[in-house]
Amino acid sequence: MSILVTGAAGFIGSNFVLNWLSEYREKVIALDKLTYAGNLENLKSVENNPNYSFVKADIGDSTFVAKLLQEHQPRAIINFAAESHVDRSVHGPDDFMQTNIIATYRLLEEARSFFNTLSEDHKNKFRFLHVSTDEVYGTLSSSDPAFNETNQYKPNSPYSASKAASDHLVRAWHHTYGLPVLTTNCSNNYGPYHFPEKLIPLCILKALQDQDLPIYGDGQQVRDWLYVVDHCKGIATVLEKGVIGATYNIGGWNQKANLEVVHTLCDLLDELKPREDKRSYKDQITFVKDRPGHDRRYAIDATKIAKELGWKPQETFETGIRKTVQWYLDNQHWVANVQSGEYQNWLNKNYS
Ligand code: NAD
Ligand code: DAU
Repeated sequence: MSILVTGAAGFIGSNFVLNWLSEYREKVIALDKLTYAGNLENLKSVENNPNYSFVKADIGDSTFVAKLLQEHQPRAIINFAAESHVDRSVHGPDDFMQTNIIATYRLLEEARSFFNTLSEDHKNKFRFLHVSTDEVYGTLSSSDPAFNETNQYKPNSPYSASKAASDHLVRAWHHTYGLPVLTTNCSNNYGPYHFPEKLIPLCILKALQDQDLPIYGDGQQVRDWLYVVDHCKGIATVLEKGVIGATYNIGGWNQKANLEVVHTLCDLLDELKPREDKRSYKDQITFVKDRPGHDRRYAIDATKIAKELGWKPQETFETGIRKTVQWYLDNQHWVANVQSGEYQNWLNKNYS
């Protein structure tokens, strides 16, 4: 059997493929449109693995996806493909509506058509696992309990609204058409191959390049950080044991204010790669204009997945963030390759 992984050249998708191939002997068909966020360098270490193949395609290309499903007969589709960056969704929501809503709808339709052609045995095994976010639940005050699976959807950004829409489509394709779906809603990930438009890799790289570390607003917004490999293992657990039609929140039990996260990065860099002038990287921290509609706090209550499926994160923030900083120090070639012209255009647009 095989699995189809969409968005496989992005941050979490590529970590998922690498982790899957190291833990299981099942074939992976990796699909990605290779937008600015998709990077085949992330998958270079497995390009000769006989259980791995890559196709460049859009999940919204129905003809292509139909043919691919018929050809490979996967027993699961794990959908990571999305536009994922909140700030980009503020500057230009169009791609978010197109991929996260319309293309996801097209993928669901092709999954449904394919599912209907399967034998009973294959139907029983088949799953469509949709990877989503905690941002669909909106924002929390400092005293609110963490999000659980029964929280109302209250998305606040074009990105989170488009992800919420996709979650609703997935739910509807199960209830109306009987597609065997699973949905996961995860908190903020960090780790290797994280594209440096997001807070943690952005600050590591800007620190090393002697640039300002831009903190939006007062820096007291809280996120619940999870090491990406733990997320990938959580998804594999849901795929294996999740109840069809159910949703599972995945989180790190690890709430931190943005300023605290950046201080931790600076402390680690001070230790691992001290500045030549011996000043702390903290001197580079700069407070900048806040993100419009900035959600104050996210926190995931991951009790359900722990109790029902036995998944818990293995990394603490201390171990995970140290590995992450070290990874960026050790992979300067990857860094140089992703900091292309388009990337510089984005920095100029968002931070000017
Ligand atoms: P990413 O932006 O790094 O990767 C997304 C990938 O999808 C890219 O490789 C891109 O080329 C591909 N893609 C975009 N549009 C496509 C299309 N139409 N067809 C095929 N491929 C397409 O994002 P990520 O951080 O890896 O997130 C992956 C998924 O996980 C997303 O659905 C995101 O909403 C969700 N998620 C992310 C986080 C996080 O902290 N990064 C947390 C929870 C959930
Ligand atoms: O919660 C899950 C979500 O986490 C995912 O669904 C998204 O795909 C992912 O991008 C992430 O969204 P965030 O907006 O939380 O991540 P980001 O790294 O962009 O920002 C983290 C926090 O840091 C947020 O409060 C905004 C702040 N920030 C971000 C940037 C890029 C800054 O203060 N300065 C910055 O320059």
